[in-house]
Amino acid sequence: MYGNTEYSLLSDILDEIEEKHGKLTGRSSRDFVIRLSTNFSVLRDLFMSLYDQRNDREKHFRQLILSLYSKYRKRPKDLRRQDRARELDHHWLLDQKWTGMTLYLEHFAKDLSGFQKRISYLEELGTNLVHLMPVLKSPPGENDGGYAVSDYRKVNPEFGKMSDIRSLAKILRKRDMLLTLDLVLNHTSRHHKWAKKALKGNKKYQDYYYMFDDRLIPDQFEAHMTDVFPTSSPGNFTYQKVLNKWVMTVFHHYQWDLNYRNPRVLIEMVDVLLYLANQGVDMIRLDAPAFLWKEIGTNCQNLQQAHTILKLMKRCAEVVAPGVKFIAEAVVAPSEIVKYFGASDKDHECDVAYNATLMALIWESLATTKVNLLNKSIGNLPVKPIGATWINYVRCHDDIGFGFDDEYIYQIGSDAKLHRAFLLDYYTGKFHSSYANGALFMLNPANGDARISGTLASLAGLEKSLERREPKQIENSLRKIILTNAVIMSFGGLPMIYSGDEIGQCNDYSYQKDPVRGYDNRWMHRPVMNWESAQKRGEVGSIQHRIFTALQKLIRIRKNSPEWADFNSCKLVFCENQHILAYLRFSGAISGAADQAGQTLVLANFHPSVQFLKKDILFRYGFDMNMGVIDKYTGKAPKYHLDLLELQPYQFYFISDKTGH
Ligand code: GLC
Ligand code: GLC
Repeated sequence: MYGNTEYSLLSDILDEIEEKHGKLTGRSSRDFVIRLSTNFSVLRDLFMSLYDQRNDREKHFRQLILSLYSKYRKRPKDLRRQDRARELDHHWLLDQKWTGMTLYLEHFAKDLSGFQKRISYLEELGTNLVHLMPVLKSPPGENDGGYAVSDYRKVNPEFGKMSDIRSLAKILRKRDMLLTLDLVLNHTSRHHKWAKKALKGNKKYQDYYYMFDDRLIPDQFEAHMTDVFPTSSPGNFTYQKVLNKWVMTVFHHYQWDLNYRNPRVLIEMVDVLLYLANQGVDMIRLDAPAFLWKEIGTNCQNLQQAHTILKLMKRCAEVVAPGVKFIAEAVVAPSEIVKYFGASDKDHECDVAYNATLMALIWESLATTKVNLLNKSIGNLPVKPIGATWINYVRCHDDIGFGFDDEYIYQIGSDAKLHRAFLLDYYTGKFHSSYANGALFMLNPANGDARISGTLASLAGLEKSLERREPKQIENSLRKIILTNAVIMSFGGLPMIYSGDEIGQCNDYSYQKDPVRGYDNRWMHRPVMNWESAQKRGEVGSIQHRIFTALQKLIRIRKNSPEWADFNSCKLVFCENQHILAYLRFSGAISGAADQAGQTLVLANFHPSVQFLKKDILFRYGFDMNMGVIDKYTGKAPKYHLDLLELQPYQFYFISDKTGH
């Protein structure tokens, strides 16, 4: 496997480590040596290919490996133990037992110590994985909700200290819960010490960013780049008056893009990543990885080198902290998203990725009441590698982009432009029968493109139907909320609930008066947790009770359905009624659950009226009609008329054999 030079380089580096830190003996050191030896050759190839233009690359590569050891030395014993256990059970994250919640600390519990007191609420719901939105230090004022980091090694002082993160991770681990934190890889705040030094004229740190003396190069870049925030932050470069230079700022003007062409940047960021891992974090959400590499003449997204960087980071984590999983926040074209898993085990990148395709199509199906675009788009997605999993979600803290493939829209007989325009009208409530209360995000007047902001409840029509006091519409909204959650729970992957959705929180318009947040309507769907309202989850007949208990039940069923673990064991099923989404969950042989687990046929009605479906779908998928079938959700047999199955408006069934578990 090794070339001679590679082998001698590895031994040479190990010698240097031993000279500095003493003999690498004992179990832990052995683990390090074995993991490093296993990954060394690939690490080196990746590094050399990324920096093939630089003649100092050998020096930097050595530096990277040395810094891995210094991070490994600092990895606490209990985490090393956990790493070993997870290496033996490397499919641990695919289990159906996990369900997550995403929340802003300051909106949910004020700070880290407040959060500890709220863990029982997450447990009451059944969630056991928490994604704390950015907690690292960011400047007050403009900070994109924490996505402009000024110090990767400090927690925002209002939230607490890094030691609070360590204690929280311990507490969660004891309760068999997982902690996820963000790592904002693509950019720093302009108040980060590197940016400050760059602003003072320090050349070394100017090279940490993309800086140019005039518009010559920026204009070349711009010719092929799009704008992420065309309304509030047009353009991809920002003029720095003190330097008379332009710096690349793809997101907001205060978020400076890191220059990964400089190997120092990569080494620093790997160090930060492993530092976070050493605090006890289980999963690291890699923010905006699609943007990591820039190349003139391209749109600077999803480039091969961005993938190489992720592969490198993954290998580094495999050496130092193999128990830590990576989440790719790559909200890009459906066929591009899967690439963030890497092509195979050998080519590993991220373990988890956001299923933005499913999310957007759930909203498309609700608006059109039809699931044919969903079937077409999801049905044509490349299969992800075994071991990789999705985050399935209905809402997150960002906008909803209808980024599915135009071609499939044409194939279902619609015009792509008109179809998207309809969706925007529908979710902003302009369409005549729509009760959705969303807002356009980043409307580009040049081409009419826009995305949608709004909470799950408001987009599902709850806000408007409550205002208008229309019981039938209130009922429909509640059913939509529960239906969409039923899909994300059962589709295969980690369901992630956005905080507040479990009690039906509507849009929060207070951001409009906030001088710093006013321009960004994503804040409307990031409401402050209304604990008074949450109190009503105990009152039978309240909206909060209805949603909260439905989610509790869904999570309970999920935990008891081994066939819902994600071994790529989800198959879309052809069903002649275009309003009904149908898929089969079965236990793949690889899951080891084959013997105990049955299968579930999920049927979900996206239409506001009663729908029927030929019962023979059950025979087709091997259900034993003599023994009878039940719907796991109601605990009853599904309703039939002669040979037709009946589904109420927005009803779903989890059909399984009565003899199942
Ligand atoms: C990610 C975040 C988003 C943020 C952007 C820039 O996409 O989810 O909220 O604005 O990165 O960091
Ligand atoms: C991320 C996502 C994009 C989203 C943006 C801002 O870059 O990829 O879809 O609109 O963040 O929220």
